[in-house]
Amino acid sequence: MKSIVIRGGEVVDATGTRRADVLVEDGRIAAVAADGSDLAADVTLDAGGCVVAPGLVDVHSHLRQPGAEEAETVETGARAAALGGYTCILAMPNTTPAIDSAGVAREVLDLGRGTCCDVRTSAAITVGRAGTQLAPMAELAALGVRLFTDDGNGVQDARLMRRAFEYARGLGVTLAQHCEDEVLSAGGAMHEGAWSSRLGVPGQPPEAEEVMVMRDIALARMTGGRVHFQHLSTRRSIDLVAAAKAEGLAVTCEATPHHFTLTDAACAGYDPAFKVNPPLRTDDDVAAVRAGLGAGTVDCIATDHAPHAPETKERPFDQAPPGMLGLETALALALTQLDLPIAEVLALMSWRPAAIIGVDDVHGGSVAEGRAAHLCVIDPTATWTVDAGALASRSRNTPYAGMTLTGRVRHTVLGGEAVVVDAEAQR
Ligand code: DOR
Repeated sequence: MKSIVIRGGEVVDATGTRRADVLVEDGRIAAVAADGSDLAADVTLDAGGCVVAPGLVDVHSHLRQPGAEEAETVETGARAAALGGYTCILAMPNTTPAIDSAGVAREVLDLGRGTCCDVRTSAAITVGRAGTQLAPMAELAALGVRLFTDDGNGVQDARLMRRAFEYARGLGVTLAQHCEDEVLSAGGAMHEGAWSSRLGVPGQPPEAEEVMVMRDIALARMTGGRVHFQHLSTRRSIDLVAAAKAEGLAVTCEATPHHFTLTDAACAGYDPAFKVNPPLRTDDDVAAVRAGLGAGTVDCIATDHAPHAPETKERPFDQAPPGMLGLETALALALTQLDLPIAEVLALMSWRPAAIIGVDDVHGGSVAEGRAAHLCVIDPTATWTVDAGALASRSRNTPYAGMTLTGRVRHTVLGGEAVVVDAEAQR
């Protein structure tokens, strides 16, 4: 393996900020030396004007394999992730078949080996994500699964969810919930409000999300289990999490770039690129998500990267599947649109999510001698325009096509190897 020196950048990690060169050898950080050092290596990566940080970690990526390889594969998703600065992504289990058994989980992990990213997997809470019978959680936990979710759907049955909490607590794993009461949301293709009325599109009310947040906080309290709320989108959901945290419950949550950058007004042209679940909400909800990110109520930014092939995503708005690409644009959106210092953005995208999914032994944390070399080099001033056709994802369903963003990943180092150099994937 070639040694690498990352030269001339500003290191930003969980311990602070300093100008330093970083030497990488045999998969690890071998030295961190004052800027202008005489560190030498086989390869030099220029980090002039850049931030050198622990690689980003995404706790919510739909990689579509097995079953929908026309939309994404583990390999193409991992490449998109690396280009976005990610060194670790967590696959969601709503594949076909679902990731609800050790066999399928092993298959996804095997597919991840040798790709541009450290691919981990979540697993379903219930068999087939059907919401009626618990998946073999102990067997999956023994394989290393740390987060269980039926994402794509929420677990509707409160009694079953209670049992899942009890098992999860015993196994030391976390339950993640896609909060959606399907009775309340039934038939809704966007947020229920002024825009859905104007457009004549059936809506789903914010309460469809909030009642499940409320229920699972109650179940976390009852069982002592840990819950992570996925893609929260409403002001009251965030208020509920803030109250649960103040009470000392083991509750974390994530927000997506689309829920802090776009509102339901974006659906005005009936463009299915803006259809997502939970749906884009109001200005007030977006403001609450942003405030939650700034205040630490929202623990991390998660992409909910949801590739869909054109033959399905380009159907009429009411028939198209929900979901948007995220991995290649998330960092730039956070840097461009959140009024937060870069160290805060990195906390939300690297070390805090790493802790939530239990990969903080090797990802996130600090850029320090002896740590595994999972790093990204970000040019915070580079501007670029999102070109859907140029994305590495196998799908094209970005709502940000044509938008100019500031902040770009220059290099990504995975396990000591440069997998992205000068914004080009090397694998
Ligand atoms: O918009 C969404 N798309 N929300 C989900 O929960 C699932 C995801 C998908 O798998 O496409």
